[in-house]
Amino acid sequence: MLKVYEATCTAPINIAVIKYWGKRDTKLNLPTNSSLSVTLSQDDLHTKTTCRAAPELKADKLWLNGKEEIIAQNKRLTNVINEMRAQRKKLEENDNSLPKIADYKLHICSANNFPTAAGLASSAAGFACLTFSLATLYQLKLDNVELSTIARTGSGSACRSLQGGYVAWEMGEKEDGSDSHAIQVASREHWPDMQAIILVVNDAKKKTSSTLGMQHTVATSPLIQHRIKHVVPKAMEDMKTAIQNKDFDSFAEITMRDSNSFHAVCADTFPPIYYMNDISRAVVNAVHDYNAAKAAMGSAQKYTVAYTFDAGPNAVLYVQKKDADNVLGVISRIFPAAEDKNIYSGFNFNDQEIDEVLA
Ligand code: DP6
Repeated sequence: MLKVYEATCTAPINIAVIKYWGKRDTKLNLPTNSSLSVTLSQDDLHTKTTCRAAPELKADKLWLNGKEEIIAQNKRLTNVINEMRAQRKKLEENDNSLPKIADYKLHICSANNFPTAAGLASSAAGFACLTFSLATLYQLKLDNVELSTIARTGSGSACRSLQGGYVAWEMGEKEDGSDSHAIQVASREHWPDMQAIILVVNDAKKKTSSTLGMQHTVATSPLIQHRIKHVVPKAMEDMKTAIQNKDFDSFAEITMRDSNSFHAVCADTFPPIYYMNDISRAVVNAVHDYNAAKAAMGSAQKYTVAYTFDAGPNAVLYVQKKDADNVLGVISRIFPAAEDKNIYSGFNFNDQEIDEVLA
């Protein structure tokens, strides 16, 4: 019987508190500013990917949430797959005892347990997981920083999902992108009190992808230059200090200001891009009202909860554990969940179903 090589991994999403928006090199996914995010727990929103290499497979194929994606038409997928295969080839050339699996075709099954392309960082978890599962399949000896450089070529924000906790993607300076990768600022255990609450306002696929949206912004918005030069560099430094000191007030203010700055440059794009909707804006107001009410009631904190919005209307709220139940209670009274809808309409394949997809 012919041997089948297989690896399965999961990768969590990350939610940026200082947003990546703009590329200085669209082929290599090199950003115009550094960014910083919190990687959520593996148990929550994640991608699960199984890669299989076998001599009898006829062509590279990939299924996302059960539907086939044509790899050859997707530059981002070919970037990652070609690089990982090249790395395996190098290993095989240097060690004759290794099975020659780099030449085998691949079948890949990837599924998100949450809505895809709805502004919930699905490409971040997806490309981090693809990179990591191929590295596992091919038994590559790459560290997290090297893996993050490869994941970045699939989707910029994916480079941050290869590390847990609080993660900075340093934009780097080199033209080849070799210094543009993610590094951990602090582990999850450093500040385990931090909780994220995700409010799914709309789980439909977004109209303007992040990739296209940020290119339009760089091409047409004068405001983005101010953000790149004068806003983000200071915010990055202040955010790192806030995380080191577990200073929630600073963390919250920088997070909310950065979300507002990012959506301001989207509005300054011509024609403008609007990712937030009326419900998103109502969430912003509710958060500010809640924080003000808590402060008026004598809370020692200026902010109890912070919002941030990616390229979609869905809100992510950051709170500390001690305040999570109260915030969730208030938010779900103001914004009751739709009863007729399972909002976490993701895909969860068991082993047998993965076999059926890959067969
Ligand atoms: C608003 O990483 O999805 O979520 O590199 O083109 O794949 P590509 O873009 P992507 O952009 C993410 C934008 C963001 C902010 C962030 O996560 O930093």
